[in-house]
Amino acid sequence: MFDLRGKTALVTGSTQGIGFAVAKGFSEHGAKVFVNGGSSMEKCRNAAGRIENAIPVLADIIKEEDRDLLYKTTGDVDILVLNASVQYKCEWDYIKIEEVERQMTCNVESSFLLMQRYAPYMKRQKWGRILTIGSVNQYNNHPLLTIYGVTKAAQRKLAESMAKQLAPYGVTVNNIAPGAIKTPRNHKELNDAVLKEELIARIPCGYVGSPEDIVPAALLFCSDEGGYITGADLTVDGGMRL
Ligand SMILES: NC(=O)c1ccc[n+]([C@@H]2O[C@H](COP(=O)([O-])OP(=O)(O)OC[C@H]3O[C@@H](n4cnc5c(N)ncnc54)[C@H](OP(=O)(O)O)[C@@H]3O)[C@@H](O)[C@H]2O)c1
Repeated sequence: MFDLRGKTALVTGSTQGIGFAVAKGFSEHGAKVFVNGGSSMEKCRNAAGRIENAIPVLADIIKEEDRDLLYKTTGDVDILVLNASVQYKCEWDYIKIEEVERQMTCNVESSFLLMQRYAPYMKRQKWGRILTIGSVNQYNNHPLLTIYGVTKAAQRKLAESMAKQLAPYGVTVNNIAPGAIKTPRNHKELNDAVLKEELIARIPCGYVGSPEDIVPAALLFCSDEGGYITGADLTVDGGMRL
């Protein structure tokens, strides 16, 4: 099951956390993977070095010139996972315009522009998989994540709309909405005993997920086995949305 031999995958934001686990999971199922990050080549190389058949690519997906470079480096791919995101935790009346813009650009605009860049080949070869990584905050209304939640809801809508348009060409587009997952992003919160307890109280399963919890769903959506699933939005959140 989930045989990805002969497939090439780009996972944006895969130097750590969920993206890293997904890239590693794809590689373990036979794919060649491009490991991307925006901050440093050294970090990309370190992450790729821990994955078989992985190639590091430094590109800040917010920047047009970096997206050009990303595409130049990877060429066309069979599987595109739009995982990189920007998140600012801030009350709605304090968030700065630059922070609004960075979240909108990375999470929505760049997702669309990368789909526009990578989907034509998938269409031509009549096989392709696009997966967006959303968030439980696309539904919930966290007081510090108003704009982030808006971007994730918009990205889900984008996935749904593109799914309908690409379905006739054998290209699926789906979204996974993770709940609280133990990644560097949540390091501070999860190392604060009080905050961690408050967080766990909101998760019906009773624990914080690991990046590896996202991998089985990603494999399903991105393999031959998931070919009849498109436009889906799957929460992997221990019931946090409920
Ligand atoms: N962790 C959670 O609890 C949780 C919950 C719901 C949804 N999510 C979603 O899941 C995805 C992964 O989250 P995570 O917690 O694993 O994140 P993370 O630990 O913050 O890692 C983010 C990754 O994205 C890369 N990145 C950030 N900005 C980038 C940019 N402009 N261009 C290229 N790469 C960029 C980072 O690479 P560099 O540092 O090398 O730049 C890093 O590899 C995100 O879409 C997030 O919104 C996470």
